[in-house]
Amino acid sequence: MLAAAVPRPLLKGEIHVWRLDLAGGCPADLERVVSDGDLVRAGRFAFDRDRIRFLRAKYGLRRLLAAYVGVAPLELAIALNSHGKPHLDPALGLGFNLSHAGDYGLVAIGRTARIGVDIEELPAPRDVRALATALFTAGEVQSLLSLDASRLAEAFLTCWTRKEAYLKALGVGLSVAPCTVHVGTAPRRCRFPIAGGRPDEFVEVTSLAQADGCVAALAVEGGAAEPEIFDFDWEISPETRESRSLPARAGSRKRLGRP
Ligand SMILES: CC(C)(COP(=O)(O)OP(=O)(O)OC[C@H]1O[C@@H](n2cnc3c(N)ncnc32)[C@H](O)[C@@H]1OP(=O)(O)O)[C@@H](O)C(=O)NCCC(=O)NCCS
Repeated sequence: MLAAAVPRPLLKGEIHVWRLDLAGGCPADLERVVSDGDLVRAGRFAFDRDRIRFLRAKYGLRRLLAAYVGVAPLELAIALNSHGKPHLDPALGLGFNLSHAGDYGLVAIGRTARIGVDIEELPAPRDVRALATALFTAGEVQSLLSLDASRLAEAFLTCWTRKEAYLKALGVGLSVAPCTVHVGTAPRRCRFPIAGGRPDEFVEVTSLAQADGCVAALAVEGGAAEPEIFDFDWEISPETRESRSLPARAGSRKRLGRP
């Protein structure tokens, strides 16, 4: 079995968020970790840089999940729901979600299947006003447009990542129109009802502390303790030492501050 840096058991109500540095080479043991299906998908990228980022994201994800479950990475069966959300066998009691943007990847892992994460790189698109009008609720547009112009771009991505994380937690992704879901523009921890769900069901959305020019958010059904953030350790397996650009803070653990 291949090892990975899992700091300690993940308890119910806890969330671990792993940062993946996608700016490196292909790990030498890639084919012992990444599924054939993902190797085929990788082959469809036009540019090497995008292919390698994709493969590193899948490599990190599988190494992590395998370590939490206690099996070899290729023994993991990852299935997709009808909207493409990957998930493990529910009997394992482990939920996860992946997001990537440029050189940055995030994997959120918890004891619920309804977990979503989203990361976006700054700068935001230039036409944030028009995009917000198309993608946000009337209340979100109003609060966004009341901001000073210098804060618009970041506030746009704050709202957008919260929305995507919420929709990814529910597993529906952008099959649900983002303008129908209110998550607010402020980077606060807030609870939102689940459309069609029981009155006591909710998804808790929180913005994650910004790092490296990114904006990110996490959504978890039923809420969770303050998430903990870790950096994926690319050096844990000796075979991966050929990778370029290894993260300096490999294996370190941080409290995820909320902005
Ligand atoms: C999920 C979705 C919002 C991703 O948006 P994005 O910002 O481009 O990408 P992110 O990096 O944040 O997330 C991508 C990852 O989310 C996961 N994902 C895919 N579909 C998902 C869904 N419905 N819900 C939650 N997570 C999903 C996958 O791990 C994916 O990684 P991969 O593309 O490397 O396999 C978007 O692709 C979507 O709406 N998909 C659903 C479309 C649909 O209904 N398809 C039906 C036919 S399958």
